[in-house]
Amino acid sequence: EELEKGGYEHFMLKEIHEQPRSIQDCFRGRLNAKDGWVQLGGIKDHIEKIGKAKRIIFVACGTSWHAALVGEYLFEDLARIPVEVEYASEFRYRNPIIGEDDIVIAISQSGETADTLAALDIAKKKGATTLGICNVVGSSISRVTDAGSYTHAGPEIGVASTKAFTAQVTVLTLMALSIAKERATMSESQFRTILTELEQIPNKVSKVLEQNDLIEHISDVYQNANNALYLGRGSSFPVALEGALKLKEISYIHAEGYPAAEMKHGPIALIDEEMPVFVIATQGTSYEKVVSNIQEVKARKGKIIAIVTEGDTQVKAMADHVIEIPDTDENLVPLLATIPLQLLSYHVAVMRGCNVDQPRNLAKSVTVE
Ligand code: G6P
Repeated sequence: EELEKGGYEHFMLKEIHEQPRSIQDCFRGRLNAKDGWVQLGGIKDHIEKIGKAKRIIFVACGTSWHAALVGEYLFEDLARIPVEVEYASEFRYRNPIIGEDDIVIAISQSGETADTLAALDIAKKKGATTLGICNVVGSSISRVTDAGSYTHAGPEIGVASTKAFTAQVTVLTLMALSIAKERATMSESQFRTILTELEQIPNKVSKVLEQNDLIEHISDVYQNANNALYLGRGSSFPVALEGALKLKEISYIHAEGYPAAEMKHGPIALIDEEMPVFVIATQGTSYEKVVSNIQEVKARKGKIIAIVTEGDTQVKAMADHVIEIPDTDENLVPLLATIPLQLLSYHVAVMRGCNVDQPRNLAKSVTVE
């Protein structure tokens, strides 16, 4: 086992550090920024039908459900197709309204999650076209779907999903771009810009990982917190959900992820000097709005740990701690902003003496209902 950990103390840490490579492996052979093309071989026979679909429904559980939420932003913004994101466990018992024109996409690292398989079964019975985004090759979900794209992240051993999540988001980005091409919803220059940015993501993830010492220091400051709040807007909202889930899963600190603007409808009541608030405050359309949310937290003496774009000064002047990530296209921010939150949860869990790779009560793959 020590050999498999490749010199890292835990599988989770190894898998976090593998991400520059796993993201690269995920898009290898599937895009070329210079020539301006994207191709997902697994779904190419279905791309015309997907392009004509009136809506797309994602079904997933856990971290994969968070990837689906990022997918919703990508598909709607780039390919202009309405998307619904469903918890597989709810979808399966709701007598869902779907038919032959619908595309149902299941997202699952293991490809074996019982609820996700059952949701697919219903979608198939109702005549929908089903696609899978799985990591494990030959898994049940990849076998029952009409077509799909693998994430190629390699085996993920840590129960808390890390590299599988960023690979799922990468495949979703490629899918959104393929559908956008089919539907002609993006200008050629916007298309090429995103491709060029996507190709640079692995190097940028490496730069984020270089901040490990700073993140370890921040983890030390907040390791004894009882609660934590995670805030983000747009596609950084699912990143906030994922950050909170990572902290809960492995360090057993109660954490909640919220869309930043919803804070005033509840969580703001909890904010005091004991409350760390993690905010994704990168440059983009909602930057100024997030700045106001940060001011609201500071006015109540909450502690702000902000993820900002390199060179930021405005948030830096207000926050207790900042973690910088390289600038990228707004649609790709989740691929970078997730990384420091994974590292932070990891360090907090280690400091609290928790079993990082096998947290209590959790399973890597939930094959029973
Ligand atoms: C379990 C795991 C999570 C995972 C979820 C969905 O709860 O602990 O890490 O996100 O199942 O698993 P899947 O294999 O379908 O992505």
